[in-house]
Amino acid sequence: MLNESEEKSSHSRRSFLKRTTATAAILATPPVLVKAADKKLDEKVAQRFEQVPLQLEVNGKPYSLQVEPRVTLLDLLREQLHLTGSKKGCDLGQCGACTVHIDGKRVLSCLSLAVMQSGKKITTIEGLANGDNLHPMQEAFIKYDGFQCGYCTPGQIMSAVACINEGHATSDAEIREYMSGNICRCGAYPNIGAAIKDVAGRGGGQ
Ligand code: FES
Ligand code: FES
Repeated sequence: MLNESEEKSSHSRRSFLKRTTATAAILATPPVLVKAADKKLDEKVAQRFEQVPLQLEVNGKPYSLQVEPRVTLLDLLREQLHLTGSKKGCDLGQCGACTVHIDGKRVLSCLSLAVMQSGKKITTIEGLANGDNLHPMQEAFIKYDGFQCGYCTPGQIMSAVACINEGHATSDAEIREYMSGNICRCGAYPNIGAAIKDVAGRGGGQ
């Protein structure tokens, strides 16, 4: 255990070392790099050189893209392909607003890296309708008033379709359990449940 004066001296030694190391690091950095960092040139250079090719199909349309490996599927869809139906709620995998289908399975696109979807078929809410004909789940959400502000609705509908296709919509309790990853801040849950039950009862999904 250090006494008070030893403690002070050790503290000032640590501060001195920290300051000296930081100063040395700054002095050792060539001015050209400091300037580049100032203008965020390193990021621009990285963007140019770190892009990788990516082929995928979105809503039946083939895409040949260049993406940075760190880009999520959600950001790719919204920012590069301008498919803004999939919503960014939490960006943490907790709300379900970003749910899309990858090869028919529901996936949280905010937790999926775009580069991992090479060769896959992605369906977003924009690709669910058949031309001008709404998907039965979209019709049911309208019929049962399954949305209020509508922010969670695209994710709810994508999950609801998958929920039926997975065979997890046979009772109210099961629907609640398998839709629990989709949060609705407006609390439209009873109406969402009714819409899913109706479509499931008619053999819906797909
Ligand atoms: S935005 Fe993906 S789960 Fe919330
Ligand atoms: S309808 Fe508003 S968040 Fe669900």
